[in-house]
Amino acid sequence: MSEFRPTRREFIKSAGALGVLSALPVSVVELAFADPQKNFTFAYISDAHIQHIKGTEFVRNWDRGLIRAVAETNLLQPKPDFVMFGGDLAQLGTKPELDHGAEMLSKLEYEVHCVMGEHDYYLDLGAYWSELFGPHYYSWDHKGVHFVVLNSILTYDEWTHERWPTAEQRMLEMAGLDNPNGSPFMVGEEQRTWLRQDLAKVKRGTPVVVFSHSPIQKIYKGWNFWTEDAEQVQALLQPFKNVTVVYGHVHQIQYNQIGNISFHAVMATAWPWPYPQSYAQAKSNLPKLTVPMNRADPFFERDATGWQFIDIDSGRVAMHYNLYNNTNRTVAFNRKTGQPEDSAYQAADSRIAPQIHY
Ligand SMILES: [Fe+2]
Ligand SMILES: [Fe+2]
Repeated sequence: MSEFRPTRREFIKSAGALGVLSALPVSVVELAFADPQKNFTFAYISDAHIQHIKGTEFVRNWDRGLIRAVAETNLLQPKPDFVMFGGDLAQLGTKPELDHGAEMLSKLEYEVHCVMGEHDYYLDLGAYWSELFGPHYYSWDHKGVHFVVLNSILTYDEWTHERWPTAEQRMLEMAGLDNPNGSPFMVGEEQRTWLRQDLAKVKRGTPVVVFSHSPIQKIYKGWNFWTEDAEQVQALLQPFKNVTVVYGHVHQIQYNQIGNISFHAVMATAWPWPYPQSYAQAKSNLPKLTVPMNRADPFFERDATGWQFIDIDSGRVAMHYNLYNNTNRTVAFNRKTGQPEDSAYQAADSRIAPQIHY
């Protein structure tokens, strides 16, 4: 997977000709097959966090991230077959935020599939989001790949329905990154039953790509980089030869391999999060990342946001992070070690040292 196929070279040439794409917070995904006629691309935008202030005022920085991603996605050549939005369109799930975000997404000249984020959900439990974007979980087939969208940000019924006096408070409690009043995310039994039935129709050799908001793995519970029933969901996916889970929510580069399942996070259009261990000095289950973020300037609010190409070749993913104002990265599946690895910065002396500010 370290070599690009000719179609990718063409793609990069086209992207380079545009001259602006390397600064975009949008992910471009290419699925490469042995038969080039089957190759296709899709774009991935995530975590816009559109935030209402009052009246017609919104936080401009978050607006700009999404507006730019949408505009540049419309300029992509070749055109992606569809666009994914990975969740957290809104900051506090309000109608003005969802309307404003949906209006920006409506400028996309493609079919759009949306994933539910916790910031979209916990005010009205996804009711208005559904009016705009449809069901919370679903699947479809496209050119030989089975795509699944899960709503992975559900939690215990007692927390959702009984604990909080108002819906607004419930939303605020779940919106905090490190709030001990939050509750672990989960896919839940109803969706797992649906997923089992959905996958029963899919051949074991068919590549399966799952989109979730939270990682379908356990990384750091304190920040809800976590899915409580991750193992049960993984068990449903393990029988398939080539499975990839692509998730938002963490606003940072992460990658992992558990059995047959490769995990890749995508970047946000809004802001980057630090890594749990760098912030809280706490134990986390973050897999060993040889170069976690390569974030040179933590005081630059757009550093470590960006966009990605994702190649899937025989079901294995190579994610090409094109980082905003930073050195590009490639995280590709290494067939020798059987896991995704950073391709460019394995040697310690070739890594970019963290920048120190005084
Ligand atoms: Fe987010
Ligand atoms: Fe989130």
